[in-house]
Amino acid sequence: MEKVIGIDLGTTNSCVAIVENGTPTVIPNRGGYKTTPSMVAVTEAGKRLVGHIAKRQAITNAENTVYSAKRLIGRKWSSPQVANAVATCAFRIVEGPHNDVRIQLRDRIYSVPEVSAMILQEMKVIAEDYLGQEVSKAVVTVPAYFNDGQRQATKDAGQIAGLDVIRIINEPTAAALAYGFGKKIDRMVAVYDLGGGTFDISLLEIGAHGVFKVISTAGDTFLGGEDFDARLIDWLVEGFKNEHGLDLKQDRMALQRLKDSAEKAKCELSAVKETEVNLPFIISSGRSEALHLQRLIKREDLEKLTKDLVDRTIAICQSTLHEAGIEKEEVEDVILVGGMTRMPRVQEQVAEFFAREPCKGVHPDEVVALGASIQGSALLDESTEVVLLDVTPHTLGIMIVGGYFEELIPQNTTVPTARSKIFTTVRDNQSAVKILVMQGESNRAEENELLGEFILTGLRKAPRGQVEIEVTFEINADGIVSVHAKDLETGAQQSITVTATSGLTPDEIKEMIAESKEYSVERRSSEEFEGARQEAEKLLGDIGKLFPKVEEIVAGSDFGKEAIEKARGVLDRARGALERKDVDALKEQIEALQRTQRMFKGVISKTG
Ligand SMILES: Nc1ncnc2c1ncn2[C@@H]1O[C@H](COP(=O)(O)OP(=O)(O)OP(=O)(O)O)[C@@H](O)[C@H]1O
Ligand SMILES: [Mg+2]
Repeated sequence: MEKVIGIDLGTTNSCVAIVENGTPTVIPNRGGYKTTPSMVAVTEAGKRLVGHIAKRQAITNAENTVYSAKRLIGRKWSSPQVANAVATCAFRIVEGPHNDVRIQLRDRIYSVPEVSAMILQEMKVIAEDYLGQEVSKAVVTVPAYFNDGQRQATKDAGQIAGLDVIRIINEPTAAALAYGFGKKIDRMVAVYDLGGGTFDISLLEIGAHGVFKVISTAGDTFLGGEDFDARLIDWLVEGFKNEHGLDLKQDRMALQRLKDSAEKAKCELSAVKETEVNLPFIISSGRSEALHLQRLIKREDLEKLTKDLVDRTIAICQSTLHEAGIEKEEVEDVILVGGMTRMPRVQEQVAEFFAREPCKGVHPDEVVALGASIQGSALLDESTEVVLLDVTPHTLGIMIVGGYFEELIPQNTTVPTARSKIFTTVRDNQSAVKILVMQGESNRAEENELLGEFILTGLRKAPRGQVEIEVTFEINADGIVSVHAKDLETGAQQSITVTATSGLTPDEIKEMIAESKEYSVERRSSEEFEGARQEAEKLLGDIGKLFPKVEEIVAGSDFGKEAIEKARGVLDRARGALERKDVDALKEQIEALQRTQRMFKGVISKTG
């Protein structure tokens, strides 16, 4: 019978599971471990190593050992996150031809999905060894906060590994699935996942009939155990510098050893109150005298060094609850996921924040893979009662005239989903429109991320605003986006599936936005909008006439200057809403305009 495996492709560790006779089970690797380090290395002889054996030789082969590839997957070379990785990683990260990221191991250069594929392939082999049969299908998990490019790149990695990735699911959703599977419960749960590289918080409703509905999800793809390690490393490096005047960071090999022992010490401090980092012959002093690093670390030291990191996770929990309109008290269970949640301080702060003890009995390292395997088996075997209702973590939309961002699908909408809006041309006889597909939360297009673009040509000749174009966004169950544009009159269509990294720098994006102005679209105006427009334009005209006089009168006082600044803001926002044809925003601005007009009239009447 065909089998589907579930793979948790982690930043630091990966895990594979399968449902056997109705029971989800983690598959141990050849060494008997249930998780495998997400590390890849190439030896001097050109041999490729993956997992524990790559980790064991990392110190002596630091330059050719890749860790945390997940932090780089689907990212652009020009992103700050990549710059940060280049500065801190011992292996060589180089620029790819499309503003993408490549990794050099010995004399070969690999794309990030190729490196991730080696890890996926290892997980595939672990499963095949255990099952005694070939496996070709998998459900792979990604952080909920992964964007479209990162999801696509993860799918690509699966393909390179020879796996048909039948579904990508979010890690916290997978965790909730494993937690609620077969339990016949009906409750609201929070999943707090602090792994090696990423932090995620999700709120889910689990229904008695196997329905898992995500209410809200948020996170930080650059906040995880490695940041805790980095704090400890800096502390050790600083201490060593003070004592010996030498910077251990200048020495790749020393740095790798330090990284190793810092992580080890961090993990030990979850169980004991103090531990010692002991690294003999860490560096030579230059007078051929070898120096040792030896230092006692207390749990409190670690807690102090990383306090702001834990606080950041709690702040994200707070804002996620707030945005979802859910009170802390409504959360009936808190599930901890990720190796970092073994740290006592993390557990304490989570318990304190939610005012309840997190639930025991789920294994933080295994729960995500287990959930993926449950989803996999449910996809093959319809009798399994599992319905996953996930949400999209980002707002999706297009750029419209004036460089504004018009939302099509709001953040935290349940997927799969499809939404349409109608747009029109902005010039007479405009023959083409260019649709820039973006994601993000800013109403300025340039501040959001460009996912892709396409042009719909051959529009009929007509005055501005008369050609109607319907734009439809679709998100499938993997969270992957496709977009169509259709000329409602002629039926002409264009569509794209948003592809992996667009490979553009922020400057190039700005340039593209500028170039595509000619081909812009705008919102189709409604009667309601026309009414509001007349009112707003009248107010704008009136206020415009009063402006110079009022400005002159109040110019002397700080208070007056402030009032003028505010009024300018109101005018700008009103003009923006007009340009975007945004009815709701315009109505809001009309009220603000009316207040401004009253204020202006008051100033003038007082001074006679
Ligand atoms: N006992 C422990 N105490 C503290 N931290 C630990 C402990 N065990 C593991 N960790 C840390 O947990 C992190 C790894 O967690 P995990 O394996 O869940 O991450 P991951 O799934 O690879 O990452 P991500 O989910 O971010 O992609 C590492 O930073 C590791 O040092
Ligand atoms: Mg994880």
